Formats: sequence, structure tokens, C-alpha cells
Amino acid sequence: MNNDIGIYIHIPFCLKKCYYCDFNSYSGKQDMIEEYIFALCNEILENSEILSQYKITTIYIGGGTPSYIDAKYIKQIMDTLNLYTNTEDLKEVTIEVNPNSVTYDKLITYKECGINRLSIGLQTIYDDVLKKIGRVHTFEDFKNALNMANKASFNNISLDLIYPLPDLSLDMLKETVDYAVSLKDKNIKHISIYNLEVHENTKLDFLLKEKYVSLVDEDTEYEMYKYINKAFKEAGYNRYEISNYALDSFESKHNLRYWNQELYLGFGAGASSFFAGSRYKNINSIEDYINNINNNISVIEEKEELDLLALMKEYIILQLRKTSGINIENFKNKYKKSIYDLFSNELEELTSNGLITKENNNIYLTDRGLEVANLVWEKFV
Ligand SMILES: C[S@@+](CC[C@H](N)C(=O)[O-])C[C@H]1O[C@@H](n2cnc3c(N)ncnc32)[C@H](O)[C@@H]1O
Ligand code: SF4
Repeated sequence: MNNDIGIYIHIPFCLKKCYYCDFNSYSGKQDMIEEYIFALCNEILENSEILSQYKITTIYIGGGTPSYIDAKYIKQIMDTLNLYTNTEDLKEVTIEVNPNSVTYDKLITYKECGINRLSIGLQTIYDDVLKKIGRVHTFEDFKNALNMANKASFNNISLDLIYPLPDLSLDMLKETVDYAVSLKDKNIKHISIYNLEVHENTKLDFLLKEKYVSLVDEDTEYEMYKYINKAFKEAGYNRYEISNYALDSFESKHNLRYWNQELYLGFGAGASSFFAGSRYKNINSIEDYINNINNNISVIEEKEELDLLALMKEYIILQLRKTSGINIENFKNKYKKSIYDLFSNELEELTSNGLITKENNNIYLTDRGLEVANLVWEKFV
């Protein structure tokens, strides 16, 4: 039993759907929470034989809003994992929490069942902007949540921000970033700052199209981008992935698993997995998920078996998301072939366009490459 694996748990319930959100999350379905958790624990049990061959080193409880549901359900999931799988080597157990639904008692329960990392969604410090994106919390709620997390002795906390946002000026973005980096002594060890994605058919898409709200122009967005990188760097947060910054040794171990193309199993509605060279995805619908589990029908909706070439291309894209890039020796050890023999044309073109570079044994995105990473991915799809 030498191999290790990560576990993703999906909690698809939210108090209210945020206007920009395209995740598999639902409001108004709280009646199903109990049945859902029962089904999810059953899905873990159904996989316990496979899991018995692995050591679980990371668990990530995401959503949706895991802090929205009663903490006894989170305990039930952790108890199931602790009883029926190998969790002795756990290094990192993260839970996503929303500022308005987390309480001190919930945090204590999380602590007691082995959760050692929190991820809190703030997005911006401006209440009027939070309202315009449909968030249910205020900046004050966030400050209270962070104080409670510190009181409950969480010393590894991650913060989520988004930019640009409706009616958020450059100065407002700067204030948000300055506030984020002022929280080092409050145990904010990791900051994710995502570039806003406007998904079709979301309420935000409608509000923007109808001009009820607006976003800054491209040049101002680029100023925001530059400020973010400068401010985080100066504060000692190392950009280790396109959207992720961390103090030394506080990179997300679970997310690194994704970018290193390592194994993980996901449980719950819409959860995805990477196992034995294949990618899997569960059905999104909470109702169908519960129904299938209760009737011994598979909840897997999609399975994609990746051939060797597809695996190698995917590995390159995932590794290039990290600022340390692809280690040439690691690629050779993993795939028994030289990356230069296989992809010399692509690598030469990207190098001459100034999007990637090589230093020692690593190929990584240049500053320009980080800005237009999509142009790099295009070469490997
Ligand atoms: C899966 S969400 C769940 C966390 C929690 N429910 C919350 O909203 O705080 C994780 C993060 O993804 C980011 N996110 C969600 N939708 C996004 C979008 N359309 N564009 C950019 N970032 C997004 C937000 O920063 C959010 O905190
Ligand atoms: S709370 Fe998080 S998961 Fe839920 S709707 Fe908002 S962004 Fe999506």
C-alpha cells in the first residue's frame, strides 16, 4: 500500500445562488440534506475496497456551501472516511465556508473531526458590490468569521477573491487586495484570486447584457492584474499557480494533486475523479444521485479513458498552470519519453513567441504566457 490518493466531497447546497455561479449548487433543496449525506456516505462505502489499497493524504470538502449544512453531517462524512478508509497519513483536510453560515460551534466540530484548513469566500470587501453579485454576506460577516476561525485555532486559512466585479473600480480592487495581505497575522496563509468568468444564462450574464451593471475596460483590468501580482509578491505570497498565491509551504496540497495529475476520487452529485488513467464525473442532479445510490445504480455519468498521448498533453497543460512548470526529468520518468522528442514543434513555437521559457530542467510560462495562458493550452488540446 504505497500509493496515495486524495478525496473530494461535494456538498451542493447553498442558501442562495450567487449571480455569477455556475457550480453544481442549489438553493431551496435543504429538505434533501439528510438523505443526500446518507447517500454520499454509501457511495464512500461502495468504494471502500478500492480505497483500502491507498493511503488518503488529502481531503477537500467543497461546494456549494459545506458550512451551510449542520456540522453533524460533516462529522458523519469524516467518521465514515475515518472508519472505512486509511486516513492515518492525512496531511491536509480543507472545508469551504461562507462568512454568514459558519459559526464557532461548527468550527469546533470541524476541528474535532480532523479538518485543519479553511477556505473562506470573501470576493470583495465592498458590501454594495457583494449585493450586486448576489452574495448573502457582508464584509462585517467575513471579519466575524475570520475572528471565530482564529479563536477556534485554525492556523491555515485560505481566502477567495474575484476580479473584476460589477461596478468595482481599480481603487476598490486595490483596497481589497491591501486588506487581504494585511491578514497574515490572522492566519491567512493562502489567497486565491480568480478572474471573473461570466457564464451564459447566469443572472450576472443577464445584468451585464442589460447594462444594469458594468465591468471595467480591458486596460483597467490589466492594471488590476499588475497590482495584484505586485502587492502579493511584496507581501510574501508566492504565485505558485495562475490564480493561487501562498506563504512558504502553505500551497494547497489537495489542489497540487490536480495540477500534478495525481489520483483523486470525488464523492457526491457532480463530483469528478481521476483514477487509473480515466476521468469520471457523477450526475449533477441531487434527486437522481440519491435515487441511484438507493437503488444500486451507478452515479457515474461520464467516463473518459485517456490514451497515452491525451494523458501526456493533459499533464503538460496541468503542470504549466504551476509557475514552477514542467520538470523535464519528471516527464521522462512518468511517460518514459522525452518531452522534446514528442512536442518539439509546439515547444519551439511557444518559446519563440515568448510564452514559455526553460531554466535548468524546468519549462514554465513567462510573465506574458501567464497572462495569455489559453493561447498555450490551445497547442496541447
Ligand atoms: C466553489 S466556490 C465555493 C465556495 C463557496 N461556496 C463560496 O462561494 O464562497 C469557490 C470559489 O470559486 C470562485 N468562483 C465561483 N464562480 C466564479 C466565477 N464565475 N468566476 C470566477 N470565480 C468564481 C469564488 O471565488 C468562490 O469562492
Ligand atoms: S455560495 Fe459559492 S457555490 Fe453557492 S452559489 Fe455562491 S459561489 Fe456558488
